[in-house]
Amino acid sequence: MKFHILTLFPEMADTCLHASILGRAAQSGCVSFHTVNIRDYTVNKHKKVDDYTYGGGAGMLMQAQPVYDAWNSVQSGSEVKIRTIYVTPQGRTFTQELAQELSQEKELIFLCGHYEGIDERVLEEVVTDSVSIGDYVLTGGELPALVMVDAIARLIPGVLHNENSAETESFQNGLLEYPQYSRPPIWHDKGVPEVLLSGNHQKIAQWRLEQSIRRTQERRPDLYERYMKKNLQS
Ligand code: ADE
Repeated sequence: MKFHILTLFPEMADTCLHASILGRAAQSGCVSFHTVNIRDYTVNKHKKVDDYTYGGGAGMLMQAQPVYDAWNSVQSGSEVKIRTIYVTPQGRTFTQELAQELSQEKELIFLCGHYEGIDERVLEEVVTDSVSIGDYVLTGGELPALVMVDAIARLIPGVLHNENSAETESFQNGLLEYPQYSRPPIWHDKGVPEVLLSGNHQKIAQWRLEQSIRRTQERRPDLYERYMKKNLQS
């Protein structure tokens, strides 16, 4: 899977994408990351990429030309339209389900906005999905793009070495993950739930499911309700 990140601050993305698990995954070839500096595509002789908004108002807007040409430098190398995600607080909220869906694509383009946003005309031409990471406003699209890239990339085979761990964790079955314990068996006078030491895999699975359901009910009643509805129907 190839991720293209269109940004005015490529160094922000590069630092994160070349470290830790994502960095290793890129080295092994199961994913690749390509940052495009939008400023490299401006035709303005002063390298300007933003201007005042028509109609007045505070702040500057990223102009259509450099954004379009940066996008086209990626799109023109492909025969199919590449799914292009505009990272914006006005988009639909990113979820594990959307991460799952996007992880099936061969290539993705993330368009990171800055200042007051991007000229609407270029968004109309290039964007296939507008996506937000939550109801709060950040200074730019780079951090949310990296959040989404991370969540998508870890679902791609080979990125996580333990293939099971993406399947059992929180959200994958609509529930939060159960509590987990490691050595020592007693710590600060606290033991480990007996069933986990029993070696009975069926009982352990049952206990974990019950814990997941209880934890989801307590912490995320919205998810719990959805889970119960789905499981009563089926
Ligand atoms: N840009 C600024 N804030 C954002 C958010 N919450 N999600 C996506 N993009 C953003």
